[in-house]
Amino acid sequence: MDVDAIAVKMGGLHLSNPTVLASGVHGSSLSKVLQALKVGAGGAVTKSIGPVERQGYAEPTLVEVESGMVNAAGLPNPGAGRFSEQLAQVNGKGLPIIVSIFGGDDDEFSKVVKVLDGYDFAAYELNLSCPHVSGVGTEIGHYPEEVSKVTKAVKRGTGKPVFAKLSPNTDRLIEVARAAVDAGADGLTAINTVKAFPIDVESGRQSLSNGYGGLSGGAIRPIALRCVYELREEFDVPIMGCGGVGAWEHAVQFLLAGADAVQLGTSTIKKFEIFNDVNVGLISYMERKGFEKLGDLVGAAHRGGPRGGEG
Ligand SMILES: Cc1cc2nc3c(=O)[nH]c(=O)nc-3n(C[C@H](O)[C@H](O)[C@H](O)COP(=O)(O)O)c2cc1C
Repeated sequence: MDVDAIAVKMGGLHLSNPTVLASGVHGSSLSKVLQALKVGAGGAVTKSIGPVERQGYAEPTLVEVESGMVNAAGLPNPGAGRFSEQLAQVNGKGLPIIVSIFGGDDDEFSKVVKVLDGYDFAAYELNLSCPHVSGVGTEIGHYPEEVSKVTKAVKRGTGKPVFAKLSPNTDRLIEVARAAVDAGADGLTAINTVKAFPIDVESGRQSLSNGYGGLSGGAIRPIALRCVYELREEFDVPIMGCGGVGAWEHAVQFLLAGADAVQLGTSTIKKFEIFNDVNVGLISYMERKGFEKLGDLVGAAHRGGPRGGEG
C-alpha cells in the first residue's frame, strides 16, 4: 500500500500519517518534538505554553498506577517569549508542529498568540483541559462561555488552524465542544487527562505534592473513545483522539470511533519510536480489511463497522 494512503488533511493541517506526539509528556524543550517527527510521527504537539514562565509544582509530580500514570506537573514552561527563541530555530522548515497554548482568560491567550504567531508552525492546540492547575485549564474548559471567548480571541489573532483540546472531567463535553466549534475552532482534540487523586500507603498521604493530578495511559482509553464517539455523533470537524494509545489496534479503535488522527503521550515514555509501529500496523490492518484510504476507516463504528459490518 502507498504510504500516502495514511496521509491526513484536516482543518488546514497536513500530516504524512495520523500519529501525533501529545502535548507535554516530554517537557517543554522543542527537541523532543523534532525528534518525534524524525522517528515517524506525522505531527507533534509542544508542551502547553503560557504568557509568562511557570516553575510548576514541587516533586513528586508523577506516580505510576495500574495501566497508566498520574501527573501534576503544574504546567511548567518557559513562557511565550523564551519559547519563541526555540521556534525561531525551525523557521522556514514548514514542519507539522502544533503549538499548545494556555492562559487564564481570553486576553492571556491573545497575548501568547501575539508573541508566537509570526513563527513557522502548523497549528495551535488550546489547552482548555488541564485538570490540576487553578485558574487555567478546566477552570476555563468546563464553561462554554469562556471557551467561546478564548477561541474567538485566538482565531482573531491567527490564520493558522486552531484545535480545542477538551476535558473528560465534565458532563458538558458536547456543550463545550459546540462553543469551540461555533467560535471558529477548526478541530477538536479529545481528551486531556482524567482528574485523579493517588494516595501512598506507606506515608498515608497523597502521592503527588499537588494532591490532584491527571490520569493518563491505557486506563483512560475507553473514556477517551467514548468522548471521541460522542463528539463524532455531533460534529463534522476534524478530531484528534488522545488517551491511552499504545499500539496500532488502539489507533484503529480511535479512527473507527471517528478520530481523523491520534495523539500518543504516555506510551512514548516507554518507547519513543512507537509512531512507526502504529503506522505499520495500521497499514497492514487496512490492507487486510480492504480499506484504500484512511478516511474510509474514520467513523466506521457509527456505520455498523467497517463497510457496514462485512469487513
Ligand atoms: C507528564 C505529562 C504532562 C502533560 N502536559 C500536558 C500539557 O502541557 N498540555 C496538555 O494539553 N496536555 C498535557 N498532558 C496530557 C497529554 O497531552 C494527553 O492528553 C494525556 O496524557 C492522555 O494521553 P496519553 O494517555 O496518550 O498520555 C500531559 C500528560 C502527561 C502524562
